[in-house]
Amino acid sequence: MVKRFFSTELLEWYERSKRDLPWRRHRDPYYIWVSEIMLQQTRVDTVIPYFHRFIERFPTLQELAEAPEADVLKLWEGLGYYSRARNLQRGAQQVMELHGGQVPNDKLAVAALKGVGPYTTGAIMSIAFNQPVPAVDGNVMRVLSRYFLIEDDIMKNATRAGMEVLIEQLIPEGRASDFNQALMELGALVCTPKSPHCLTCPVMMHCEGRLAGMELQLPVKSKA
Ligand code: ADE
Repeated sequence: MVKRFFSTELLEWYERSKRDLPWRRHRDPYYIWVSEIMLQQTRVDTVIPYFHRFIERFPTLQELAEAPEADVLKLWEGLGYYSRARNLQRGAQQVMELHGGQVPNDKLAVAALKGVGPYTTGAIMSIAFNQPVPAVDGNVMRVLSRYFLIEDDIMKNATRAGMEVLIEQLIPEGRASDFNQALMELGALVCTPKSPHCLTCPVMMHCEGRLAGMELQLPVKSKA
């Protein structure tokens, strides 16, 4: 059925097509965390040099936790949204105080860290720990809205919640890390907002939005 095709074809495509991004060379949850916070409001190309400089200066979570805040903000200069940097450092300090310096392999404990919302929780749990936790951002909602022809408003919490349930059903056993990254990658490279590259899409054959000729009307998004 459609769901099984989706996961298998998406994972095969990801193996062939994934970008060699610096944070994909690590499984250290601290590095994944840094990358996801940087990527929240910033493009991949912009983030790459910042990520390199950041982990060179703060190679461990402990070094970040103990650094002067001004040093952290200095390295963030140009990325904007400085509260991200402050919260990241506070989160690192929480991990030192509460978890002995190791990012906990526990969804609730990760979600409780400063600056870590539902998306980042899912990204850390899945990418770093390979736990089957959904990581739903705008890219992922666009892909799912199109593939499953979901016409619900993606600005509504209930829509996001429904997509989280759908992803839990879609993640193949033991493949959470690759699966969530594959969804993000498809949204970034192929299933793009304005001119999706349907002809090179690995899941076009069963994409209900495309079959209905509705890919450009999806996702449905009300004005904030
Ligand atoms: N955007 C958000 N998280 C990402 C990741 N891990 N890889 C690529 N793009 C992303």
